[in-house]
Amino acid sequence: MPLHGPSLLNRFFTLTMILSMVLAPSWAQSGGKAHPWTNSSLSPDERASWVVKEMTLDEKVSLLHGTGMEGLSPMSPLAVKSNGGAGYVVGVPRLGIPAIQMSDAAYGVRSSGENGRYSTALPADVAAAASWDLDAAHEYGALIGRELRAQGYNMSLGGGTNLTREPRNGRTFEYLGEDPILAGKMVGSVMKGLQVQHVLGDIKHYALNDQESGRNAVNVNIDKRAARESDLLAFEIGLQESDAAAVMCSYNRVDGDYACENKYLLTDVLKKDWNFKGFVLTDWGGAHSMAKASAAGLDHEEPGWIFFGDDLKQAVESGKVPAAEVDDHVHRILRSMFATGVVDDPPQKSVVDVVGGFEVAQKIAEQSTVLLKNDHGQLPLDASKIHSIAVIGPHADVGMISGGGSAQVDPPGGNAIMPSGKGQTRWLEEIWFPTSPLKSIRAKIPAANVQFDSGADPAAAAAVAKNADVAVVFAYQWESEGMDLDSLSLPHHQDELIAKVAAANPHTVVVIESCSPVTMPWVDQVSAVLEAWFAGSRGAEAVANIIFGDVNPSAKLPITFPKSEADLPHPTIVKPPKATTAADSQGWKRIAAGLPAFQITYDEGVKVGYKWYDAEKKPVLFPFGYGLSYTTYSYSNLKVTPGKNPRVTFTVTNTGDRAGAEVAEVYASLPPGAAEPPKRLVGWSKVKLKAGESKDVVVEVDPKYLSIFNVEQNGWQLIPGDYGFMVGGSSQDLPLKESVNLK
Ligand code: BGC
Repeated sequence: MPLHGPSLLNRFFTLTMILSMVLAPSWAQSGGKAHPWTNSSLSPDERASWVVKEMTLDEKVSLLHGTGMEGLSPMSPLAVKSNGGAGYVVGVPRLGIPAIQMSDAAYGVRSSGENGRYSTALPADVAAAASWDLDAAHEYGALIGRELRAQGYNMSLGGGTNLTREPRNGRTFEYLGEDPILAGKMVGSVMKGLQVQHVLGDIKHYALNDQESGRNAVNVNIDKRAARESDLLAFEIGLQESDAAAVMCSYNRVDGDYACENKYLLTDVLKKDWNFKGFVLTDWGGAHSMAKASAAGLDHEEPGWIFFGDDLKQAVESGKVPAAEVDDHVHRILRSMFATGVVDDPPQKSVVDVVGGFEVAQKIAEQSTVLLKNDHGQLPLDASKIHSIAVIGPHADVGMISGGGSAQVDPPGGNAIMPSGKGQTRWLEEIWFPTSPLKSIRAKIPAANVQFDSGADPAAAAAVAKNADVAVVFAYQWESEGMDLDSLSLPHHQDELIAKVAAANPHTVVVIESCSPVTMPWVDQVSAVLEAWFAGSRGAEAVANIIFGDVNPSAKLPITFPKSEADLPHPTIVKPPKATTAADSQGWKRIAAGLPAFQITYDEGVKVGYKWYDAEKKPVLFPFGYGLSYTTYSYSNLKVTPGKNPRVTFTVTNTGDRAGAEVAEVYASLPPGAAEPPKRLVGWSKVKLKAGESKDVVVEVDPKYLSIFNVEQNGWQLIPGDYGFMVGGSSQDLPLKESVNLK
């Protein structure tokens, strides 16, 4: 026996321990047999192929559907093992393949309250888009990924990517604005941040589900070129950037076929043109057929198995659905599980890090609050000179509003205002998060007299405002899945409230909590306006930091604020005829069978958001890409170097006396032959600058962003000719211009 070093026996034990640790999950779950797919040095596709070879048809079909949800499908007894999220897919324990536990997670993990938990409420997704900050988006996704895992989930159902084509859409808060390049890049970054946490990412709702009204019945008509250059481009970029594991097909029909059985969308575009390797799952209750959907490229049905259960199995057995088609669906799910690491690194439940979550939520809120107006340097307020402030607005003493529906989050500390009688949040009810504007403002200025008025009686609120040095009005426009906004006007007489307060106090600051644009008939009467969106768990602290100048605002609008609804492409939102609604308990059966269609024609085509207002020469209230800062910036030295990826270089200078971050935006106009709207965003850079500092910026432009979609050739085409490159701080403030010829 040697005196030093481990004995042979010890070495054997150590080696066995290491091996069993490395192989633990698969060994444990597969009866101690090491399978070839446990070898993580193989590619996800190789590993998936090995598993598919071993699976029975029953096991394959079990991966292709969920286990049910009350009100939307029958329930399987297997659902008892669900973690309580929206979706649960049994795994294949015999082969070491874990279950998929899905949770909604748009701006945080959904409805953890039902499971006795909580999760960080981040600012809404559209707020994250207003940061124009890809690192912040990455952090956003990473936080959601960590909290999903801590709660035992391994798949997110966040990733809303629909464009704000219809700004009254009640889910605008879940999406990333009106520009396909901004939305695509941002969702790509969110997904990257999420998936590095070993969570399956999903982007949704594919495609053109741009309003809630009649979503299960509507048929969207749009020409292919316009679709590819707008809504679909956002998904294309998002997938290209992130390799998100899944795409959720939407409820609506597109050009005649439901999105979840639409061969053009699922196979021709997604799987062929974009080479998407992941899987397509339905929105909840979004399946309408078996053989047609399977052949069209649908891989997985949620939340039940109306079509992709026994019927599918029998269809394979009788040869109606090719076995290879089912193998492809299964392969896609398995390869995504291997690729994102959910097989090798299953989640372990743990406690959500509340403090860490607050920090991230606040930082993102500070980066996403947009300063829209600031006359005579009204903001930041100088705490040493102010003796009294009136804080006015519904619930501004206790909370800030949140977005509802399947995105709803239960934040740490419970809700500030919620419907009585229940411990958790409910569908289609306003929930206010516990982040108090009144307290945050008081904390900044403890010696001052800070009065609160709810604004319920505008005259009383105006009287409080009259006696204060400054009035800060918190106004809101709530929105949720399952509804659209009646209009872009602030509801509950808030326009009247603001006008009365502004008439009483010339130093009126309005903080808007909305995620869709709002019209502002009072805008000329107030001295400052901030758009705080649905600001999340630490919104009030972030807003107070901006109001008092601890943070210099740097966000820019990801959506245009029109002057009036009459200026929208569709001045009134198209609603379904009554007969197409299906609200009773058996409604899901009629939805599955297919409701009678009503039509929406997106004849504005590619002219979404600013592209519409530019082309139609309609002046707007606040343009896309716009946002003020407490400092000022200047732009100089534009140089455009043509080439495969044209390089746009320029200098940004901070010409003011405090540090800031400027979103420097690059737009391009295409040659007239392209027949495109006057300009499109083709890139940007968020530049941090100290007072007086200058930085040279390089933006390399992907040729696709300069191209049109040629439907006949089914591909992107750069039209040879003169391209105008424009650079500046908003879509309507572009001081630098240079034209180059591109071939
Ligand atoms: C929503 C989806 C969501 C699903 C599961 C549906 O109502 O449209 O976005 O992921 O429910 O909760």
